[in-house]
Amino acid sequence: MIDLKDYGIDMWEADKIASFREKLLSWYDDNKRDLPWRRSTNPYHIWVSEIMLQQTRVDTVIPYYERFLTWFPEIKDLAEAPEEKILKAWEGLGYYSRVRNMQAAAQQIMEDFKGQFPATYEEIATLKGIGPYTAGAIASIAFNLPEPAVDGNVMRVMARLFEVDYDIGNPSNRKIFQAIMEQLIDPERPGDFNQALMDLGSSIETPVHPRPEESPVKEFSAAYLHGTMDKYPIKAPKKKPVPIYLKGFILENAEGKFLLEKNENDGLLAGFWHFPLIESEEGSTTQLSLFEEQGASQGPSAIERFEQDYDMVVSWQATVFSQVQHVFSHRKWHIDLLYGKVKGNIPTLSGETRWLSPDEFADYPFAKPQQKMWAAFEKGK
Ligand code: ADE
Repeated sequence: MIDLKDYGIDMWEADKIASFREKLLSWYDDNKRDLPWRRSTNPYHIWVSEIMLQQTRVDTVIPYYERFLTWFPEIKDLAEAPEEKILKAWEGLGYYSRVRNMQAAAQQIMEDFKGQFPATYEEIATLKGIGPYTAGAIASIAFNLPEPAVDGNVMRVMARLFEVDYDIGNPSNRKIFQAIMEQLIDPERPGDFNQALMDLGSSIETPVHPRPEESPVKEFSAAYLHGTMDKYPIKAPKKKPVPIYLKGFILENAEGKFLLEKNENDGLLAGFWHFPLIESEEGSTTQLSLFEEQGASQGPSAIERFEQDYDMVVSWQATVFSQVQHVFSHRKWHIDLLYGKVKGNIPTLSGETRWLSPDEFADYPFAKPQQKMWAAFEKGK
């Protein structure tokens, strides 16, 4: 355990800590949001909600959470589900390694813990995809163990309470916030204490335009009292995502079916179905002329490359679609769409490439960029 004094932080006396807990928890009792996972202490339910909430907003998560538990009511159902179904359950949430890891962890629970969700912090933390935040959230909410759940919200609130002069974006500083929380957490109601801070962080102590005068614990906040709210938390600016330029092909055959293929790679978006995509050079419009242009490299145009790779004769349409953009954690995709009709005989397709009618899309997992491509196509055609 670290000594907070070494980091310039003076921890409060016991009576101040007690009064902080009381203030925070009574505010939570009066103001807590009624969320479906708050009506359960089943660790499986808490786990599903916490994983979904990691990179996704509460309002978006609610319907996904409910559907997930209908599709996979027990850990065993998740452990045994086909990949296509778990991806479909997560479709649109992004960061799909989350659900793949959940399935691996469900299998671990079936094999190593006889199907019973483990009930200690240390065991919970051995499950695939569960880091210190999630282990703390499950341990405290489902098992009432006094374990902090330190995420960005909690770090921001702590940074303002104690004027912590350490960057909350640097993972090696997490231990400082963990140490503060170990002293503050209410041993009687640890799950509520953690969730109260999450609510405070997402409603009042927001990253931008916080309203600290409305905080139930404002008189505990050094940054509020000293007028330094705009300095805390300390956070270095994020690096910009690297732009990736792609051409996306919406190909329709005479039966009104569209060409889709399965991503067989191991990396990003493995297992998802997508419209054909070819990486290209920067270009900001989707005019046909653009596709026919050769890049500065003087190589074949995107159309020529497509026709070669897919061995099809296509009647390209001049329709202009809006550019599809999608940000993954470190990359930003810019996709120019081109629409074409396949002439003559429909070539027989090999491997995991299929002609699908739009009614069939529901049976195939599509990642967000492909959903956006389809929406842009429908809007512009
Ligand atoms: N964000 C992460 N976990 C949460 C929870 N349990 N309640 C509300 N927001 C959250």
